[in-house]
Amino acid sequence: MKTAIIYDSVYGNTGKIAEEIARVIGEEAKLIHISQAHKEDIENAELVVLGTPTHGGRASEAVQAFMKELPSDIWSSKKVAVFSTGMPANSVNFFLRFVIKIIGYASTPTLSVIVKQGGVAAGAPADFMVKDKQGPLLEGEIEKAGKWAESLK
Ligand SMILES: Cc1cc2nc3c(=O)[nH]c(=O)nc-3n(C[C@H](O)[C@H](O)[C@H](O)COP(=O)(O)O)c2cc1C
Repeated sequence: MKTAIIYDSVYGNTGKIAEEIARVIGEEAKLIHISQAHKEDIENAELVVLGTPTHGGRASEAVQAFMKELPSDIWSSKKVAVFSTGMPANSVNFFLRFVIKIIGYASTPTLSVIVKQGGVAAGAPADFMVKDKQGPLLEGEIEKAGKWAESLK
């Protein structure tokens, strides 16, 4: 299945998850950093996998800006899966713990925006954890990403 994996990553962790997803999906996967992503990447794909770091409970600004610029019907009947990275609630300060408990991670709200615009969820949203703001990914997260990617095929 022709798959566009569009991702943002400030410190490289979301990028590592995106790379693992691309590896598992195989030669039909196209890995695209958000700064290089175009609406045609979505139009030409049968499955779009969107990955973002969680910033204030939401997708990164770059991902939000990209989504805002898209034509409103672009997601119509398009298979989509969304993942995010974030920090475990028990590893952060009081304020961020509050944000995580109340809002959660970016994958679920981002997928629901896309589904409201006609996208079809290809799988449950997934969240992969980093140890600190800059990473690294917690042990086992790459393997978890591989399994999630398998489930999308
Ligand atoms: C401005 C900013 C806001 C953040 N807000 C959250 C948050 O609300 N919840 C959370 O779990 N992690 C938050 N984080 C941590 C990021 O999720 C973490 O930096 C990211 O997962 C690392 O991925 P990357 O290396 O691909 O950028 C925040 C980080 C930054 C820089």
